[in-house]
Amino acid sequence: MATEPGLDLAALREEYSRAGLSEDDLAPDPVSMFRRWFDEAVAAGLHEPNAMVVATADAGARPSARLVLLKGLSDEGFVFYTNTRSRKGEELLANPACALLFPWHPLERQVRVDGVAAPLSTDAVATYFATRPRGSQLGAWASHQSREVAGRAELEAAYDEVAARFPEPEPVPVPEEWGGYVVRPHAVEFWQGRPGRMHDRLVYRRTDDDGGGWTTHRLAP
Ligand SMILES: Cc1cc2nc3c(=O)[nH]c(=O)nc-3n(C[C@H](O)[C@H](O)[C@H](O)COP(=O)(O)O)c2cc1C
Repeated sequence: MATEPGLDLAALREEYSRAGLSEDDLAPDPVSMFRRWFDEAVAAGLHEPNAMVVATADAGARPSARLVLLKGLSDEGFVFYTNTRSRKGEELLANPACALLFPWHPLERQVRVDGVAAPLSTDAVATYFATRPRGSQLGAWASHQSREVAGRAELEAAYDEVAARFPEPEPVPVPEEWGGYVVRPHAVEFWQGRPGRMHDRLVYRRTDDDGGGWTTHRLAP
């Protein structure tokens, strides 16, 4: 691979030796296990540990990925908020199968989730929207996420226009195109780096579609 002088990407590698993950360490279900690792990511001071890569694919199976913030976690799954007519929103409408990735590499960890996204209820969306800073609420109105704009000035004019339309102290209503999803997992993998590339990979797989049961498996690194 061609690289810039002085930066040999092929030689950039880390030896992972912080911790191990054994079958005995696993919580009974992946959400409890995720909470445990998430708490450790917070305690370790990771920057935005709730930032996750959300991968979607369109009806033609062409993938796309972007960072999104995890804003809730329940037995149902992993919650995030976005514009439902964005590229990811359109892709999830055509194909609700998606994947999440938490790249906690300072801890030599990653968590991978395979699941299916379902839109959140209007009530759940409104409750969360009300907690957002006013500037973010106005931004959600001003930005038709993923659509082309002629320039920065167009966006700023749209923002000023909605700020005038919804003067303080009136609450800003939820834009029709704004919403959220819960990703119901069918597999969740916990990955812990180990020396010599002999990493630990333990994956929970749902036993059936309506039950709450999980089996666990070890994958080769
Ligand atoms: C750290 C970080 C967090 C982000 N969180 C969100 C989020 O919670 N919701 C969202 O819609 N976009 C979020 N974004 C922006 C997305 O990465 C992306 O640009 C946007 O959602 C449009 O993606 P799309 O065109 O693929 O739909 C975030 C970006 C970064 C870098």
